[in-house]
Amino acid sequence: MMEPDAIVFDKVSKTYTNNLKPAVCETSLKVKKGVFVTVVGASGCGKTTLLTMINRIQEPSTGHIMIQGKDIKTMPKTCLRRQIGYVIQQIGLFPHMTVEKNIAIVPEILGWDKQKKDRRIDFLLELVALPPKEFRKRYPRQLSGGQQQRVGLARAMAGDPEIMLMDEPFGAIDAITRLSLQDELLCIQKKLHKTILFVTHDIDEALKLGDKIIIMNEGKVLQYDTPLNMILSPANDFVRNLVNSEDVIQRLSLMKAEQAMIGIEGKIDARELRVSSQENLKNVLICILRSERDSVIVEDDSEKPVGRIWLNQLKMNKVEEMALAL
Ligand SMILES: Nc1ncnc2c1ncn2[C@@H]1O[C@H](COP(=O)(O)OP(=O)(O)O)[C@@H](O)[C@H]1O
Ligand SMILES: [Mg+2]
Repeated sequence: MMEPDAIVFDKVSKTYTNNLKPAVCETSLKVKKGVFVTVVGASGCGKTTLLTMINRIQEPSTGHIMIQGKDIKTMPKTCLRRQIGYVIQQIGLFPHMTVEKNIAIVPEILGWDKQKKDRRIDFLLELVALPPKEFRKRYPRQLSGGQQQRVGLARAMAGDPEIMLMDEPFGAIDAITRLSLQDELLCIQKKLHKTILFVTHDIDEALKLGDKIIIMNEGKVLQYDTPLNMILSPANDFVRNLVNSEDVIQRLSLMKAEQAMIGIEGKIDARELRVSSQENLKNVLICILRSERDSVIVEDDSEKPVGRIWLNQLKMNKVEEMALAL
């Protein structure tokens, strides 16, 4: 049997009481298990509403939402929320509780024994790069903003939920810390393969993190696509302006080879070019253009081939001229 999609929206609308316009309008979309989706759009376009209908902080006015094939209306809210980690900008750590107590909230509710809880806390703190020995006993006020956000992430993952909802989690963090949090989140996702919906108003963040991106405007999904497709074939002028696909080379430089690669079909020729899965797409493009070939093999850290990128995938108007001028 085919595994059901992790999240399905079926013609979902939400109009808040006394509002004239819907916050989310007739939205249908599917998110496959293990996929990292970023949601981007201007303030007020309905991102938070979209997200919070999934854990039933808000209820849709019409339409249905399914997770793992089940209509969420048929599930008790507590049961639903246990399967969904939720991270927000204002973190919401309990100030009178230590880091370990904050993380243990869900495991407590689930009735885990002390040993299991302790192991989980250590595992999660290691995961978010906070050494447990140093951080377990601290209080939130003894942490920087970035560290608090890491604890918030650890707490949301404590019960090992399938789905993570993240609403501008790095919005209040300085630019440098933010970049390292983004890298760590990608690293965590490589290990855990959660289904993630991550809201941001920062298109660079959306392009960097997402396997796929949802672009919203005025309650509607304008395009739901891979970052590469978004840049190379924006659905309309709004998307084109937002992703700034005029400056395609700069955009490609924000993305990694692994975000664009497709499966390897057939044999690999020993003379084929190879690039690291972490190489940025601008360099991948230059590499292909300077060779006599029309594709490259992508390899992982251990030099194992994991995919292929075709020149055709990166092609659009004048892209070759632009790349050669670099
Ligand atoms: N609780 C609420 N009651 C009434 N209107 C709301 C409520 N929450 C959001 N809205 C309205 O719905 C629209 C979408 O808001 P929101 O989903 O928070 O957007 P975003 O997260 O993209 O900034 C906005 O016009 C906002 O004013
Ligand atoms: Mg919001």
